[in-house]
Amino acid sequence: MKNFVNHIRPRFVPDGVLSVLYTFCLGGLSFLAFIVLGVTGLLLMFHYQPGESTSFSSIVTIASVIPYGGVIRNLHYWAGQIMVVTVNLHMLRVVWTHSYKSPRQLNWLVGVGLLVLILVLDFTGYLLIGSQESGAAATVAVNILGLIPGLGTALGQISLGEPSALSGSTLVVYVWHCVGLPMVALILQFYHFWRIRRDGGVRPL
Ligand code: HEM
Repeated sequence: MKNFVNHIRPRFVPDGVLSVLYTFCLGGLSFLAFIVLGVTGLLLMFHYQPGESTSFSSIVTIASVIPYGGVIRNLHYWAGQIMVVTVNLHMLRVVWTHSYKSPRQLNWLVGVGLLVLILVLDFTGYLLIGSQESGAAATVAVNILGLIPGLGTALGQISLGEPSALSGSTLVVYVWHCVGLPMVALILQFYHFWRIRRDGGVRPL
């Protein structure tokens, strides 16, 4: 624990580590978007109702009846899209500056895990809209998972529940999107930040 605290808030920061033109703060912007998503997502949970017949109508209610609901929903939607873009650009910057090389190869792998999590979060958010398009997307995902020999059907049930072709919103998707995946992503991000310091800070190798 002491080790974690010492590295997450170091007393000395090496010269050049904070250069904006080296990182373009793309990792920091990704984290900012993640915080916005957490706050707006929590507010949306007060009125969103998962399920085939309730999801879409609850979103319409949020957007048109609940005070500031439309603003909160749009903030959540755009922060999600922006995060997908900034995380990808951040990864390109890491490739461009060769920062995936030793000693940062483990943090690169942690980053790959984060990228997958962010994409799955974006996808499950799309399913929660509960529209016909989200129903079609959920059906495709269940069918693709079903192709995995032996495990496919169980994996589909565990990750998506039983979505209908008319709405991708199920309680299972909802809990993954609002609790399971964000928790894992948050823990992995703090490990990512700790590793940056542990690997000597952000600076040319
Ligand atoms: C939730 C997504 C992510 C967040 C919030 C995040 C955050 C950060 C932050 C704040 C930094 C410090 C420098 C900077 O801002 O560029 C950083 C560095 C780094 N990130 Fe990420 N990151 C994420 C995803 C990724 C991905 C997808 C990869 C690669 C697959 C990656 C690999 C790295 C590496 C290797 C470093 C060290 C770079 C260096 O020392 O120059 N990260 N990350």
